[in-house]
Amino acid sequence: MGLNQEIAKRRTFGIVSHPDAGKTTLTEKLLLFGGAIHVAGAVKSNKIKKTATSDFMEIERQRGISVATSVMGFEYRETKINILDTPGHQDFAEDTFRVLTACDSVIIVIDAAKGVETQTRKLMQVCRLRGTPIIVFVNKLDRPADHPFDILDDIEKELQIHVTPLSWPAGSGELFRGIYNIREQNLCIYSPSIQTIPQGIEINDILSPELDEHVGERAAKQLREDLGVAREVYPAFDRDRYLAGDLAPVFFGSALNNFGIREMLDCFIQIAPSPLPRQTEERLVRPEEESFSGFVFKIHANMDPNHRDRVAFVKVCSGTFARNTPYLHVRLRKTLKFASPTAFMAAKKSIIDEAYPGDIVGLHDTGNFKIGDALTAGEQLHFKGIPSFSPELFKYIENADPMKAKQLAKGIDQLMDEGVAQLFVNRFNNRKIIGTVGALQFEVIEYRLLHEYGASCRWENVNLYKACWVEAADASVLDDFKLHKAQYMAADKHGRDVFLAESEYMLRMARDNYPKLNFHFTSEF
Ligand code: G4P
Repeated sequence: MGLNQEIAKRRTFGIVSHPDAGKTTLTEKLLLFGGAIHVAGAVKSNKIKKTATSDFMEIERQRGISVATSVMGFEYRETKINILDTPGHQDFAEDTFRVLTACDSVIIVIDAAKGVETQTRKLMQVCRLRGTPIIVFVNKLDRPADHPFDILDDIEKELQIHVTPLSWPAGSGELFRGIYNIREQNLCIYSPSIQTIPQGIEINDILSPELDEHVGERAAKQLREDLGVAREVYPAFDRDRYLAGDLAPVFFGSALNNFGIREMLDCFIQIAPSPLPRQTEERLVRPEEESFSGFVFKIHANMDPNHRDRVAFVKVCSGTFARNTPYLHVRLRKTLKFASPTAFMAAKKSIIDEAYPGDIVGLHDTGNFKIGDALTAGEQLHFKGIPSFSPELFKYIENADPMKAKQLAKGIDQLMDEGVAQLFVNRFNNRKIIGTVGALQFEVIEYRLLHEYGASCRWENVNLYKACWVEAADASVLDDFKLHKAQYMAADKHGRDVFLAESEYMLRMARDNYPKLNFHFTSEF
């Protein structure tokens, strides 16, 4: 098979949701449909249960599992599907943001009774930043749910995206009767089945009295009415608008009962994009180019001190990646060869000889990689679109063991390279501030510094609301700002200027007083 065919058959995407909406269940059911697993429950989730938030060893165990589930590849109808797993716990949202940078499209799962929730809104902001194509799966229709029109309104409003339903539920909860496939114009009658793929009865004519027989007169009438209104109200599906991230097709179902998933998956493989060109600082890189290029979007460290290896996950962006071939590590200007690159097929990890655009390759790493690093066949390329996001929680980090200052500095440096959190150095007092998205990261850092680097740290509270990157076209504006806000200026790990705002009010004032200064909430602008 030629490179172009390999690219055309690949779909690399992520599934995101607010915790508990059903991301893990849907992922597993997609694997079931793809024949990658044969019974539900075969894939362990990397979800950190809410009850385990204070149990650090539980998190450790879960992290171990998450290596295996980082990427799940399987073939479905001659399409190679790569699902990139995202951490379920919201304290690891930054990991999810980063995984999204390697996805060519995204499926958002929403709980039909709860509608759009906070975490989904945040993740959507990241998708919007990149214009990622979105499909929405409204889950748990087997439970009492809001009316589909209300759910669609909520999605449109909360996620600020146009929607068009491509399937439609007949009832919900006790009255859930089936899913009408708007694209194929047939109805699959609901029969709950947790373990296997339901062989639903299909009704091809919505006007047929057969429908009334199967779902009851009332439900049939309601479905016909709903579909009539939906046809009037929502735009027809337009693939270009979907690919531009402007129009989201919506599917309904019950992941737990394997219901409504086939409708989405069959549509997904037809409409979702194959690997897209990627912007670098130098030029646009097209997947079909012969020379290999790729970037690191995730680093997974083994926290067991006896096996202190790491896996760097590389998204192949162009050409063919080959085992034992020298590639340029652009930032280090070093040539590296990989003897045992791994890929994940059907929940199994194996060494691969080749990988194509859209594929994710796991590379054994002894500390060479940082998030965002490029690997190429020799060209100097710096991939764009892998930003850091403004953290929300901050603490000063102090050395608790003066004999181990070096170890602490090294540990902090390496953990930041992995993207565990972000480091800012206050330019006024030179103190180090760690910024995170979730409170758990502080625990993770402290534990890892001690166990992996033998360094002890101490946290000290710092009253900060937000860190944002600042720049101005006119250098004197920035200089003036830095002079006046000297106490609140810091440098990020690349030495860029960061403003540390103590409160929302302070940030607003700064923006009002310095209209010519640009404030950015991601590190790439
Ligand atoms: P998440 O990854 O988005 O956090 O959600 P997950 O799939 O773990 O699902 C959260 C809970 O919702 C699970 O129940 C799961 O069984 C349930 N669930 C998922 N899809 C459906 C559905 O279509 N219908 C119904 N009724 N429930 C669904 P749990 O009790 O929290 O966990 P478990 O003990 O069943 O694993």
